Amino acid sequence: MARSARSKRSAGKDGRSNRAAIGTRRGASAESLAKKQREISISEFFTKNRHLLGFDNRRKALLTAVKEAVDNSLDACEEAGVPADVTVEIQAVKKDERYRVIVEDNGPGIVRTQVPRIFGQLLYGSKFHTLKQARGQQGIGISAAGMYGQLTTGKPVVITSRTSPRRPALRYQVAINTAKNRPEVSREEEVDWPAKHGTRVEIELEARYQRGRQSVDEYLKQTSIANPHVDIRFLAPDGREEHHTRVTKELPDEPLEIRPHPYGVELGLLIKMLKETKARALGSFLKQDFSRVGAKVAQDICEKAGLDYKSRPTRIARTEADRLIQAIREVKIMAPPANCIVPIGEDLLLKSLRSDIPEAAFYTACTRSPAVYRGNPFQVEAGLAYGGALPADDLARVFRFANRVPLLYQPGACLITRSLIQTDWKNYGLAQARGALPTGPLVVMVHVASVWVPFTSESKEAIADYTEIFKEIRLAIQECGRRLRIFVNRRRREADAEKKRSYIEQYIPHIGDALQEILGLSDRVRSQTVTNLKVILEKSRKMG
Ligand SMILES: Nc1ncnc2c1ncn2[C@@H]1O[C@H](COP(=O)(O)OP(=O)(O)OP(=O)(O)O)[C@@H](O)[C@H]1O
Ligand SMILES: [Mg+2]
Repeated sequence: MARSARSKRSAGKDGRSNRAAIGTRRGASAESLAKKQREISISEFFTKNRHLLGFDNRRKALLTAVKEAVDNSLDACEEAGVPADVTVEIQAVKKDERYRVIVEDNGPGIVRTQVPRIFGQLLYGSKFHTLKQARGQQGIGISAAGMYGQLTTGKPVVITSRTSPRRPALRYQVAINTAKNRPEVSREEEVDWPAKHGTRVEIELEARYQRGRQSVDEYLKQTSIANPHVDIRFLAPDGREEHHTRVTKELPDEPLEIRPHPYGVELGLLIKMLKETKARALGSFLKQDFSRVGAKVAQDICEKAGLDYKSRPTRIARTEADRLIQAIREVKIMAPPANCIVPIGEDLLLKSLRSDIPEAAFYTACTRSPAVYRGNPFQVEAGLAYGGALPADDLARVFRFANRVPLLYQPGACLITRSLIQTDWKNYGLAQARGALPTGPLVVMVHVASVWVPFTSESKEAIADYTEIFKEIRLAIQECGRRLRIFVNRRRREADAEKKRSYIEQYIPHIGDALQEILGLSDRVRSQTVTNLKVILEKSRKMG
């Protein structure tokens, strides 16, 4: 109130003085605006918009930095075919303000020429241009974590890496020039390092360490559920040491890289592919550059589009490309191959759930067959842990995963949560309020694996709304739910039978007494009769 009164007073008749007070001046010309127009570097953009990358507050910043480094370590180990041993250490530089994150892996290491750009340049990576299942996609993750560290503490990222026991380990200090999005290496030296190969990343950053639902502890626990082949050691800043051991030595199969499936391709991408292809004829372009297109399908597409099989791809005009897209939609093309996605699998999921949530009484898991959204293959799996010592009066806990990475933030924006809320859990013997998750001693895990996971933002926290994915999640949950219902019903029947039995058992001695009186039995025969009745009761219970 006071403020608006003051501003009214200070404004002149035409309000001009008010405008001057906030520093605006109309009448800019195209030329004067042109002076201000310039390129924005991606790193400057994300410095201002760090929340888009998961660095909106100190606690989340700590988790994001750990997550980016660990995800990279796991990707690198898997690509190299090494069972990952990852150590995560968080040291408090100043409690609740500044921490040092250290992540070390036994992966293939990083060659010298690549280190600066990987850690000191946003949008530089090996995974963006490949259609292959991986934790990383964008080429932003670790350089963004380093950039946040640098912005908040002024310290560069310290990287130690070794690519072979025959080569020395090298230690680098890399900073990022945010105005240019270019790396600056301030130091590079050979060091003694016991590891034969691997990478160690150290980032100092403004952060806060706190345990709980959205913590580093939780992220590592869930990572171990979705990655049963991984060994993770965690040294917390409070001196605790946690060890998540692997439950299998077998590595997941290597996901194969695929070419795009024609059904998913949009006009812009098709035009770009036509320009860049090495193929000299349209037909061979379709066969070589797409998955699931053979000679017959290529022929059909060309015919439907009214284009010559032999025409040069580089000469295809925009309107013709448009006709190609139409034709692709009309031709029946096989679904993309499934070996580009590697699910966790029902057996390992069960093992993981049992080992990481040992307090439950019932476990089940379901892996669906692969399906396709926008031309990208994906596969959904779900698992449930129920009963036992899990809290009975709380809402079910949900573990969401995308390409084996736990998603801890933005549950409300995620397709997985929506699918769970829209499932009718009463069918499976659980209580559920309208528009809410079910209530009961239940942990639900859902994993979406894909060659390209459609996240709602660059911080990769929630899965976007695709009907095809929604449907698969529901089917996986329903399958698990049906098994849960059988278990819950059996439990209920057993509890009822138990109740009946204890009733009857109470009366058996009295029946013995009554029989003794009516039939004049001896004490020995009476107690024998009581024992017999108990045996019969026990037998009938077992049969029931
Ligand atoms: N620990 C590591 N060992 C080996 N290579 C690594 C390691 N960390 C990063 N890399 C390489 O550096 C690249 C860039 O990593 P970065 O996290 O910035 O992007 P990304 O993982 O490709 O995608 P995203 O932004 O989605 O995480 C990776 O693609 C990978 O090739
Ligand atoms: Mg990454």
